[in-house]
Amino acid sequence: MLPADLIRQVEKIAGLENVFTDEANRLCYATDSSLLSQINNWVPDLVVRVTNTEQVSNILKLANQHRVPVIPRGAGTGQCCGAVACRGGIVMDLSSMNRILNLDLENLQVVVQPGIVHADLNKALAAHGFFFPPDPGSTKMCTLGGMVVFNSSGQRSVKYGTTKQYILGLEVVLPSGEVIVTGGARSRALKSVAGYDLTSLFTGSEGTLGIVTRIRLKVLPIPEKRGLVVAFFDKLEASGQAVIQVFRRRLLPSAIEIMDRTAMKAATMYKPELELPPAEAMLLFEVDGSPAEVAYQAQNIAAICQQFANQVEWTDDPKRLIELWTARSVVGAAAGRVKPGATRVYIGEDICVPVIRVPEALRRIQELSEQYNIPIVTYGHIGDGNLHAAPVINTYDSAEIEKVKQLGDAVHRMALEMEGTTTGEHGVGLTRAGYMEEELGPALQVMRQIKRLLDPLNILNPGKMALDEN
Ligand code: LAC
Ligand code: ZN
Repeated sequence: MLPADLIRQVEKIAGLENVFTDEANRLCYATDSSLLSQINNWVPDLVVRVTNTEQVSNILKLANQHRVPVIPRGAGTGQCCGAVACRGGIVMDLSSMNRILNLDLENLQVVVQPGIVHADLNKALAAHGFFFPPDPGSTKMCTLGGMVVFNSSGQRSVKYGTTKQYILGLEVVLPSGEVIVTGGARSRALKSVAGYDLTSLFTGSEGTLGIVTRIRLKVLPIPEKRGLVVAFFDKLEASGQAVIQVFRRRLLPSAIEIMDRTAMKAATMYKPELELPPAEAMLLFEVDGSPAEVAYQAQNIAAICQQFANQVEWTDDPKRLIELWTARSVVGAAAGRVKPGATRVYIGEDICVPVIRVPEALRRIQELSEQYNIPIVTYGHIGDGNLHAAPVINTYDSAEIEKVKQLGDAVHRMALEMEGTTTGEHGVGLTRAGYMEEELGPALQVMRQIKRLLDPLNILNPGKMALDEN
């Protein structure tokens, strides 16, 4: 319960219509996509929908005075329990701050508010021939603010990198309520080495250091053409070898995605018209550039795949491109279909291992699926070594929940053992907090010191990222 005078002051700052204290509305903010949030009851004490920086600043000042946790939140599509009030407090919903403030395309940049949805930004940019390359699976829902504070990536990071490569500067409200701008207070430059790189510090900080209220983002011209190579493999290991061979031949696709047999089954159960041939894995290579470059890359990738695969197709026909990408784009939503009445859960699903060890990781995930008797739909960004191992369980069965927690732990530990990371793109939040001592080593202590410096009263998203343990 929050003090009544604090609630009244928040109502004064944000307007009565933007403050929710009733249980039904607060309940809507109790979960993100993580299993952890779904099996706990972390209902915030209050939800406030903010519309400008001043409101964010005034609410943080108040919360700091009262030592009340504040958890910033965009669309709530996160998968690591990052935007959930695990210690109560105020959830701050930034999704209404969704405007493009400045389209400065001559300088290859835009300034946006954090609540803008990724697909809406790219639609607006496409009208001018530009795009923001990182492309997560949740493009039609997730917000740019969430992408910044989780340094999201998705399908195009093979060639274009992750969100952090595109952040030129951020307006951030600190827990004290002070507003700063990183990357130069008034800069519109594309590069700067002035001072510590605070932009990078806040990027990926998961709402634990400050609240991002404005984003200056680099954008790129849309490539003239795109092409796609699709290959079906009898053996899982052969798909990994094809990827390694593509890099050895100095080819650089914009995306390389994998779907294993179970993922192909899920996609086909959802969309039978896909008619995918029987295989242990399929790969999709996206290439982009000039028409000549696309043809060169696609033909060479197809030729390499011929050596390892039993069926290969390439196309640059826009209609066929969409058809072929459909299998990949539906797999996340379709995963639950492989077990009637069951649901796909997020618990150990975005490990990243060295590319050379991807085939081994894929095989071990299948073995874990058999060992725990839980179907796992595996797909993901094989070109980065980033795999989504999606367990499918009956979430009403407590024995299955216990079993899947052990399975998730085994997947995380496997990634660390293979010189990888527990999280390639979804973040630490609460789900991976327990692995940070091992994964980060003494660097975690430095992170804890930074947290204490910027947020001495620990009001911003407390309990996350293993920052306030010890
Ligand atoms: C994707 C999300 C799960 O790649 O990261 O679809
Ligand atoms: Zn992904």
